Order: sequence, then structure tokens, then C-alpha cells
Amino acid sequence: MRRLISTLLLCSAALGLKDLGAPNWSCDASVMAKSKKVPTSAHSVRFADIKVIGALGDSLTAANGAGAPPGDPLAVILQYRGLAFQIGGDKSLDEHITIANVLRKFNPNLVGASKGIGSENVWEVAHLNMGVPGAESKDIIGQARALVNTMHSHSEINVKEDWKLVNIFIGANDICVYCEDPYFNSTAPHGKTTFENNIIAAVKILHDNLPRRSIFVKDFIRKFHTSIPLDSLFFFRFECDCESNQKFTDDDIQGVCFGYMDGEKDIQNTGLFDDKDDFTFVVQPFFNGILDPPYSSPGVVDMTFFAPDCFHFSAYGHGNIGMHLWNTIVQPVGFKQTSVNLSDPTVGLHCPSASCPFFPTTKNSKDCASHFTLSELD
Ligand SMILES: *[C@@H]1O[C@H](CO)[C@@H](O)[C@H](O)[C@H]1NC(C)=O
Ligand SMILES: *[C@@H]1O[C@H](CO)[C@@H](O)[C@H](O)[C@H]1NC(C)=O
Ligand SMILES: *[C@@H]1O[C@H](CO)[C@@H](O)[C@H](O)[C@H]1NC(C)=O
Repeated sequence: MRRLISTLLLCSAALGLKDLGAPNWSCDASVMAKSKKVPTSAHSVRFADIKVIGALGDSLTAANGAGAPPGDPLAVILQYRGLAFQIGGDKSLDEHITIANVLRKFNPNLVGASKGIGSENVWEVAHLNMGVPGAESKDIIGQARALVNTMHSHSEINVKEDWKLVNIFIGANDICVYCEDPYFNSTAPHGKTTFENNIIAAVKILHDNLPRRSIFVKDFIRKFHTSIPLDSLFFFRFECDCESNQKFTDDDIQGVCFGYMDGEKDIQNTGLFDDKDDFTFVVQPFFNGILDPPYSSPGVVDMTFFAPDCFHFSAYGHGNIGMHLWNTIVQPVGFKQTSVNLSDPTVGLHCPSASCPFFPTTKNSKDCASHFTLSELD
């Protein structure tokens, strides 16, 4: 038996409805421009060429509790999809950083950003945010199918022609599956963990059914939820019970997370999804090295980062993570940050490289020249 017990104590810290935006942000016109001709290769996609955004994941993608009023932990059952760091579209970028809000600076007609509060099956709210609270990696296979079907049933999306970006953020609910996973330490030639196989199965559905898609997978939250100091009255605790009641230590959990992250990198580096020129898979590893929770002052956890249950992210937490995710996306593969300082909201949003203004992929990061195509301004 496995169990994920979340010990939720009320966060009574003064949680303001704080947020993080990027007022008046823009980049050089040359970097903001779309391609002269719609690109045919995933390695030549300018940010303004992205027409559709989608997301798969769990409650951190559904953005549970992100807009919950201070002191109202029950509001954490509400899915504030419009604030989700990957795909939320409630506010402007001036007020709230999400990948969708940044991409709308490049293409105001972006389709797929989620709006308001509600579940994944309500198009008017979710749009292409397929995240479901409690989802494990096995569940994103069904989400990938739902994403394909939803895209096909909405005429504003040209499934054949439009470039699509899908963010997958999964893993927090898998951690306790570890002790049941016979493949976790597999050393067979094609040995992969169940987590890795689930990601591959989901991405394969997208790969086989949707042309013109760039994918990025973001690593999931690692240790910082477990490392919130217990001297605070308000904390979240992971407890996994494996057979014979063995408890995971923080180090065990960290080891499992590293295993999952290695699996994702393996999928990227083996080029499994680079067989078609119009599809690719990129890992955004900025969570890998984060060991500390966000601090408001030395040693004091910044509770404004969290929803009133002290686990999910607040609107400010989503904005902060959205900023770091974007900054990681614009870095070339092989040179991506593997840790960020969640305590420092002043980092700001970076611009895509002027010398290689394409969505960074394994191929164009090695050799931009052979993937270079003209922009509408050239
Ligand atoms: C953004 O631009 C507006 C209009 O130009 C200006 O009034 C405002 O002060 C700017 N905000 C920031 C934070 O630069
Ligand atoms: C996997 O390997 C690690 C390191 O060798 C070990 O600590 C862990 O107990 C192993 N886990 C399983 C499920 O065998
Ligand atoms: C992170 O940012 C905070 C706030 O600017 C700063 O006090 C702290 O030293 C930084 N931590 C690291 C490891 O750089």
C-alpha cells in the first residue's frame, strides 16, 4: 500500500493577494517578429509563430487555490486555471507572469490559455489546460488523448498547420509509487522507470496525432515542500508509507526525484521524439537544484508563495515560477539553469537570443545556422 498523506495545517500568515507581473515588458522587434514563411521544422520556430498552447499535469497545472483568499484553505478545492504559471490567461503580463501571457506579447491571437475557475472539461474555462488535481504520470496519457480530441473539435485551431507548445508538469503525485515500481532501478538495456514510460506514452500520443508541435516538459517540484522548516507552525509534510510501514526520508524522496528527472533528460537526449522534423521534446530543468523554499527574510519561509493550504502555489507563486520557467525556456539546451532563487522576484523576464531567436531545441542549440530562417522583417 502506498499513501500520500498531506498534513495540512492552516497557514494563518498574512497572505496578501500579492502577484508578480512584468510591466511594459518587450524585446527587440527582430526577436518579437514571426517568421517570413510558416516554418516546417520544429527547430526553426520563432516565439511569434506559436499559435496554440496546451498543458498536461496535476493540481499545480489546474492551479488549485491560486486565487484563494487569505485564511480560506477550503478555497484550495477551486481550480484557478486562469492563473496557472504555464497556461493561465486571466490577467495581462503587466500583472501576472505566465507562459501564455508572455507568448501573447509575441502573438496576441494565441489560442489555448485558460480563464477563470473550473474543471478541465469546461472549454470556456480550461481551454487547453488539461491538468487534473491528483493526477499521476499514468494519467497524463488520458490527458494527452483529451488534448488531441479537444484540439480537433475546435475550429479556431488548425491542427495541421498551427505550431503548438504543450507543457507537461507532473510527478509530485508519483513519488509514493516508487516503492511499488519494479522498474525503478532497472538496468536492463531498455530499462526505464514507470514514470519515464508514462511520459513516453503520453508524448507519443501527441507525436502521432498532432503535427507541428514543440513540447517542453518541466520537472516537478522536488524537495522544497518537505524542507519548509518545522519550527514554523505552518508546514506541509510528505509521508509515504511503503510495505511494512517503512517511511521515506527526505533523502529517499530526493533520490526518487533525481531518478525521474534523469528519465526526462534521457528522453530528450536520446532523440526519441526527434524522428519527425515537426516535433520535438525539451526538458526545462530549473527545479533540479532547488533545495530551499522561498524565503521572505533569512530563515523565514515566504508564505505568500503558497495558497492557504501551504502546499499549492498562490498567484504570486505561479507568477514567480512562470518567470523562471520562461527564462529557462529561452536558454539553449545544454546551457539551461538547473537551479533558481525563488526568494528573488526581481530577476525579471529575459528575451530570446537575438542571434538565434528560435524556440531553443536540442538541434538549434548545437547549430543554429543550419536551422536559420528569415523573419517577416528581413
Ligand atoms: C508602463 O508604461 C506606462 C505607459 O507608458 C507608464 O505610465 C508606466 O509608468 C510604465 N510602468 C512601468 C513599471 O514602467
Ligand atoms: C535504487 O537504488 C538506490 C541506489 O543504489 C538504492 O538506494 C534504492 O534503495 C534502490 N531502490 C529500489 C526500489 O531498489
Ligand atoms: C536569493 O535572493 C535573496 C533575495 O534577493 C537573497 O537574499 C539571497 O541571498 C539569494 N540566495 C542566493 C543563494 O543567492
